[in-house]
Amino acid sequence: MGLSSNLMAPAAFFIVLALFSVPTDAQIKSDEGFISVFISSKGLGFVKDLLMHKAVSSLTPIEIQPIEKIVKIPLVGQVDILLSNITILSVGVGTSYVSSGGAGVVIVASGGTANMSMNWKYSYDTWLFPISDKGAASVLVEGMAMELTLGLKDQNGTLSLSLLDWGCFVKDIFVKLDGGATWFYQGLVDAFKEQIASAVEDSVSKRIREGIIKLDSLLQSVPKEIPVDHVAALNVTFVKDPVSSNSSIDFEINGLFTAKDGIPAPTNYHKKHRAPVSCTGPAKMIEMSLDENVFNSATSVYFKADFMSWIVNKMPDQSLLNTAGWKYIVPQLYNQYPDDGVNLNISVSSQPMLKIADDKVDTTIYSDMIIDVLDSGEVIQVACISLVINATGSIQISKNNLTGSFGLTEFTMSLKWSNIGDLDMHQVQAAMSTVIDTVFLPYLNLHLAKGFPLPVLPGFTLENAEIICRNSQVMVCSDVVHTGEYDLYKLLPLWVNMLSI
Ligand SMILES: *[C@@H]1O[C@H](CO)[C@@H](O)[C@H](O)[C@H]1NC(C)=O
Ligand SMILES: *[C@@H]1O[C@H](CO)[C@@H](O)[C@H](O)[C@H]1NC(C)=O
Ligand SMILES: *[C@@H]1O[C@H](CO)[C@@H](O)[C@H](O)[C@H]1NC(C)=O
Ligand SMILES: *[C@@H]1O[C@H](CO)[C@@H](O)[C@H](O)[C@H]1NC(C)=O
Ligand SMILES: *[C@@H]1O[C@H](CO)[C@@H](O)[C@H](O)[C@H]1NC(C)=O
Ligand SMILES: *[C@@H]1O[C@H](CO)[C@@H](O)[C@H](O)[C@H]1NC(C)=O
Ligand SMILES: *[C@@H]1O[C@H](CO)[C@@H](O)[C@H](O)[C@H]1NC(C)=O
Ligand SMILES: *[C@@H]1O[C@H](CO)[C@@H](O)[C@H](O)[C@H]1NC(C)=O
Repeated sequence: MGLSSNLMAPAAFFIVLALFSVPTDAQIKSDEGFISVFISSKGLGFVKDLLMHKAVSSLTPIEIQPIEKIVKIPLVGQVDILLSNITILSVGVGTSYVSSGGAGVVIVASGGTANMSMNWKYSYDTWLFPISDKGAASVLVEGMAMELTLGLKDQNGTLSLSLLDWGCFVKDIFVKLDGGATWFYQGLVDAFKEQIASAVEDSVSKRIREGIIKLDSLLQSVPKEIPVDHVAALNVTFVKDPVSSNSSIDFEINGLFTAKDGIPAPTNYHKKHRAPVSCTGPAKMIEMSLDENVFNSATSVYFKADFMSWIVNKMPDQSLLNTAGWKYIVPQLYNQYPDDGVNLNISVSSQPMLKIADDKVDTTIYSDMIIDVLDSGEVIQVACISLVINATGSIQISKNNLTGSFGLTEFTMSLKWSNIGDLDMHQVQAAMSTVIDTVFLPYLNLHLAKGFPLPVLPGFTLENAEIICRNSQVMVCSDVVHTGEYDLYKLLPLWVNMLSI
């Protein structure tokens, strides 16, 4: 691949990053990605700026091999010239932009320069005696063009980055000598210009190749799971090659919750076709779409891990925790166990399924509540009430976590069994309403308020996120800020630290 002529503007410096990924039929089939991440052209611009900053600051200093040559100078004769300690001190980039390229995304940066320093030395023989001199020089490199063709692929569930093609071209160099004779200046420039330029091209290309290899091993080292807590983790395995088009890239990751060791695996999910959801409002850097099954895999893991049952022995209204409080609700309970303590043993009886509808999340929670009486050190189960709670919730975002909260829509209840005879369910209804409002939902919401982490690389934070719930999907439209330092390579230990609990 060559640079087109309009990129070869004089006195400009280009980096061309082409992120190529050519999907084939084989890669499109059998993708079970429940989270897809779309990086828009705005997002690619952000990534490009980050990479450019990294690339440019990691380029220098570059040491270049000494160059020696015997040069024929008019009126002087054969001169032996040695250039040594040739160093590229700094590289500067002016502006840059992203544009879509035929099969990929092209990032172009222009309007920069590079400063170099070197030592020079020459010697020649006259018919009388040898003459020599030495000094330093500074070199300004202009019109440097760099071209990279990068392949981005799914390799065994992680992203792999490869350099498919590269090139570096120097348009012109300007030398400023400290000392030296006038003839030497012209001789040096004439004889060495090409060689210095190609030495710069070679060393910069080599540095970029090394950089890409490092970046690739960094990407490959990103763990395939994000731990959530001691029960669950989020599977962030890539399921297919990224697809790039129209200045954007689409990634698909598994996105389901998985269980930690010793906890039964969640139900198997198969991807259903969902009508696409679009972000509204001003363009954002990323659009992350989470399928309903992401949430249902979470409820599956927590349900199977026995996380959905608890004993209530404290509540805002303590009266229900003593049989005295039940005196008028279930008179026989008080008569049989006067002034005894009561615990409520609540357990969810089947995995709650979430339905993501327009701007809300609905769920039905089937649960059993056993009334336990604490009678002289003994726990006596007296009755069990089945509750079917319909709740509606909303999803919010807190930093990089998706959080939620639910409110009661309605509930039904029935007596499952009783050791104290029939209960007047009409009387019990108000008590259950209190339990749901003051214990059940607040407890649930307390857990949901922490949320779970979205697959965002550590060092990056979502900003101005907007959430859309529709068509069985949750769409997160967001910008991203880089909160870590601008050194991508240094993120490696950070990732490892943040991702291992
Ligand atoms: C080599 O170049 C570097 C950078 O310009 C400079 O700091 C150093 O002193 C030079 N070394 C010699 C031996 O001239
Ligand atoms: C090169 O050196 C000049 C003069 O010292 C300076 O103005 C310019 O910013 C430098 N360029 C880079 C890319 O460091
Ligand atoms: C793929 O990943 C698995 C587990 O992450 C590992 O055991 C296996 O060796 C990897 N295979 C290749 C070809 O890298
Ligand atoms: C490409 O992106 C531009 C702006 O982001 C948009 O207007 C255009 O419709 C897109 N084209 C396709 C084919 O997606
Ligand atoms: C994570 O997702 C990958 C890709 O879908 C799948 O092959 C792997 O089995 C999943 N891991 C677990 C622990 O479920
Ligand atoms: C709570 O109820 C469940 C059955 O729903 C039972 O298995 C468990 O042992 C009970 N826990 C206590 C502490 O009573
Ligand atoms: C609760 O939700 C379920 C499922 O959406 C529905 O069938 C039921 O009628 C709703 N109402 C009550 C009171 O449970
Ligand atoms: C994000 O979620 C995890 C897992 O629930 C939790 O440990 C962490 O504290 C949450 N972070 C924030 C900022 O809420």
